Amino acid sequence: MGDLAGVRVLLGVTGGIAAYKAALVARLLVHAGATVDPVLTRGAERFIGAATLEGLTGRRVRSDVWEDIPGESHVALGRAADVALIYPATAHTIAKLAGGLADDLLTTTLLAATCPLVVAPAMHTEMWQHAATAANVATLTGRGVHVIGPASGILMGGDVGAGRVVEPEDAIAAVRAALASAAPDRDLQGRTVVVTAGGTREPIDPVRYLGNRSTGKMGFAIADAAARRGASVHLVAANAGLPTPDGVTRHDVTTALELRDAVLGLVDRADVVVKAAAVADFRPATVAASKLKKADGVPVVELTRNPDVLAELGAARSGPGERPLLVGFAAETDDPEQRGWDKLKRKGADLLVVNDVSRSDAGFATDTNHVVILGADGSRVEVALAAKREVADRILDRVVAGLGD
Ligand code: CTP
Repeated sequence: MGDLAGVRVLLGVTGGIAAYKAALVARLLVHAGATVDPVLTRGAERFIGAATLEGLTGRRVRSDVWEDIPGESHVALGRAADVALIYPATAHTIAKLAGGLADDLLTTTLLAATCPLVVAPAMHTEMWQHAATAANVATLTGRGVHVIGPASGILMGGDVGAGRVVEPEDAIAAVRAALASAAPDRDLQGRTVVVTAGGTREPIDPVRYLGNRSTGKMGFAIADAAARRGASVHLVAANAGLPTPDGVTRHDVTTALELRDAVLGLVDRADVVVKAAAVADFRPATVAASKLKKADGVPVVELTRNPDVLAELGAARSGPGERPLLVGFAAETDDPEQRGWDKLKRKGADLLVVNDVSRSDAGFATDTNHVVILGADGSRVEVALAAKREVADRILDRVVAGLGD
């Protein structure tokens, strides 16, 4: 296995004569173990056949923004990429990227991607030296894009000068460097993190249940981020229809009691327990063996208390600061912070992440969140509206600080 095993590379190819060299780039990346998703612009399709890249990468070549929208949309492609390389990059594509334009699959995908981007320009010397190109390249560099080359040499038509795309080996080296500079700290290496996510369902009869609106997105983002930071991660997922993040061990559960069993079975080996799941506080006292019928009248469902798993874990320790470090969540609608401080104390957690679920851009089923992280030590960290994976990393920053050395 090469050193790029497990790395997903978005290979953008744009319309220049050097596009033929993208085949070599694809081959080297595949050799190094990477999964390569080629995206061609319309111009690139005139210089290199999709069949060539498909044969070399074993993956479908994409070029149409209108294709397979539910399957692998530009957003999914952009999110899946660990690194993107545009090889070769025309002056026009560079200008579009600098301006944030999104008029084809490649530029739309890159606008949706947050991974490091390597751009290998190729164009005539005059175009490269044009003030517009220079300004666009400066914009990209200022944004953290890795611009590599161009090299000098023979250009199309026999001219000689700056503008040749860098050699495939140099482009791969730039991809490795971009990945290394973007690699997250492995600050949870050697730690075991248990994360609960989703919402429990408490059966009423064989077809009905009491549930809640939690989708699991926040907990899954935390599990993903913890795994990226080197932790061994167990994800206890309650009714979450989300894909398991790479490197994470998943335990599916349905009810609060099942969730409790799963967590208690894992807690002894855990350094950290993050309780992002929305656990039902009550369950029907009895579950009807067969489906309740209208003809039998309006049923009265008697409820009974579920154990509070977080409070139980908190009570099992002699106080905050002991292992495992406990992170609770609170979804609140009224006076979230004051209730958060109370809950932190009452449940004996080390950290409590408070979510104001009355906001439309935070809480259930959204991709963003706005939270305040309260600490048993009196600390208060506010994470302004951000993507859930960004929020996940900020929560883990607090966890790492709490774990100490
Ligand atoms: N929690 C739990 N077990 C339960 C209920 C909640 O472990 N039976 C955990 C959740 O996973 C979350 C935290 O406790 O981390 C807060 O959940 P929340 O429902 O907001 O707290 P409640 O105990 O229900 O508090 P209240 O009813 O006062 O809002």
